[in-house]
Amino acid sequence: MRVTIRDLRRMKRDGEKIPMITAYDYTSAQLVERAGIPLILVGDSLGQVVLGYDSTVPVTMDDMIHHIKTVVRGTERAHIVGDLPFLSYHTSVFDALRNAGRLLKEGGAQSVKLEGGQNQAPAVNRIVASGIPVMGHIGLTPQSVNQLGGYRVQGKSLKAAVQLMEDARALEEAGAYAIVLECVPAPLARMISERVAIPTIGIGAGVGCDGQVQVFHDLMGLYQDFTPKHARKYANLGDAIVSATSDYISDVQSDRFPTDKESYTLSRKVLDALSDHSASPV
Ligand code: KIV
Repeated sequence: MRVTIRDLRRMKRDGEKIPMITAYDYTSAQLVERAGIPLILVGDSLGQVVLGYDSTVPVTMDDMIHHIKTVVRGTERAHIVGDLPFLSYHTSVFDALRNAGRLLKEGGAQSVKLEGGQNQAPAVNRIVASGIPVMGHIGLTPQSVNQLGGYRVQGKSLKAAVQLMEDARALEEAGAYAIVLECVPAPLARMISERVAIPTIGIGAGVGCDGQVQVFHDLMGLYQDFTPKHARKYANLGDAIVSATSDYISDVQSDRFPTDKESYTLSRKVLDALSDHSASPV
């Protein structure tokens, strides 16, 4: 049985912090589940860290469904959140519902995430009313990078902070089961977390949130283009991969790979017969 949104609510009630990590493929999903992660986000950050785009804007519904399926296949217990990509829910409430439904029906996710607060409340309301749990996402909303003029901390002025509080309330009222707070000043994120009953999941929002989410490639030291201030490297897999690959290259070039142990052999009988055979022209 997978972790449910009821379990997440209970965790907030009991003061048990909620760890969430992104994953985009079968193998990494298997590994993070083995470590005991309860909540996995198949984020549209795959646009940068897997597909090599410079933002999440080009990511499509088909990209998301393709990757969600692999993560679902690699897990049994974790709750899988599928990210709705840019323009899959902005055009109408009907599109929002249809595309949210695709992430569950075709992808196999248990819930969806979308970016926005008050402005997306009608879509959240409609999706939730159809039986699909929705995680909100406010603060820095990367799909709006062109509008925001870059990846910056949000909610620093009084007006912007009040707006974020109202966004959080609007999402809760619309039925969202949790809210990601991205790049929000820590004291504001703590206040929001105290004022809503649903769990807040922070990324660059301080320790006062009910949970934390990080991008797999940032935690594992895999993404070389950029590391945000809020990320902590728990491993240096990027350097480990470069070093392992260069060992492999040099072993291949010097015949140290493969050895007999890594090769398949033939029986003496077949070998002898083959040698006789190859002695005469075919
Ligand atoms: O796509 C993503 O990885 C996200 C997280 C940064 C919350 O939305």
